[in-house]
Amino acid sequence: MSNDLMTEIRRLKHERNAIILGHNYMDYDVQLMADFTGDSYDLALKAMETKADIIVFAGVRFMAEQAKALNYDKVVLSPDPTAGCSIADSLDAKTLKAYKESYPEAPVVLYVNTNVEVKALADYIVTSSTAVKVIKKLKESTVLFGPDSNLADYVASLTGKRIIKVPLNGKCIVHGNYTTKLMDDARVKYPRAKVMVHPEAPLNVLKLADFVGSTNQMIEYAKNSNYDEFVVGTEIGMINALKLKVPGKTFHPITTEPYARCPFMSMITLDKVYRSLRDLVHRVEIPKSTANAVKDAFERTRRLIEGGVA
Ligand code: 13P
Ligand code: SF4
Repeated sequence: MSNDLMTEIRRLKHERNAIILGHNYMDYDVQLMADFTGDSYDLALKAMETKADIIVFAGVRFMAEQAKALNYDKVVLSPDPTAGCSIADSLDAKTLKAYKESYPEAPVVLYVNTNVEVKALADYIVTSSTAVKVIKKLKESTVLFGPDSNLADYVASLTGKRIIKVPLNGKCIVHGNYTTKLMDDARVKYPRAKVMVHPEAPLNVLKLADFVGSTNQMIEYAKNSNYDEFVVGTEIGMINALKLKVPGKTFHPITTEPYARCPFMSMITLDKVYRSLRDLVHRVEIPKSTANAVKDAFERTRRLIEGGVA
């Protein structure tokens, strides 16, 4: 990364009263230039707390949309709004409405990896770090949950609730490809390491892990562990976050196969972040009514997480 580019980004941030929020999967140089890095939940909270006028969201589109919904009066910029997500793109509003009609009593709990017009139909919005906690707290025993099918299995296994998947087969193109063989190989190759896996992986894989959690929860686990070597069962950009936040420990990606890197996350480069700040593009625009519905569901969920009951 050139010093000139870094200096220019810092100057523009100051001049425009802007901040950069970066997901834990971002390239190393993007994470270095970000004001905050974190998992989906943490970044949504950071977006709500900031006093900046402009938020550049270095992550995929649903994350930038989420930030806009929670901060309607701020300018939210997406360095590349074509960066989608295979989970988010697996569910449309029409499908969800049909499920809602079939299960009118079931609360609708949507994973944050959902496109914003669909998310506006949610009663609760969860992330990989909050899904189990939220669904445990709901009084209903049947819950409509989507769009990630593996996270649905994981939640069902820990809550004992009847989880109706909507759609049936929403998958992450990174974690959805993990297999038990990948886990067995990692154990052989790194016998001293603890194995952490993201809950978007299949349940039979999660059962073989030492730790299952969101990207931020992995950072905390590695930081607080007595162990100093880990296999990282999530998108390979996470190694950047671990290097920055847990120095002195050793991290091995669970795989370096082509699907180790999310093609959508990798579309967000430092150069695009810079152009976004410089030209104030691409502004995330969503209808106010959609933003209000998402914000209501997010706040309802937050109250539940912070101690309330449904
Ligand atoms: P986190 O909520 O753990 O950051 O995960 C987001 C994501 O897209 C995982 O693939
Ligand atoms: Fe979506 Fe998977 Fe990429 Fe995360 S890693 S943004 S869940 S496709």
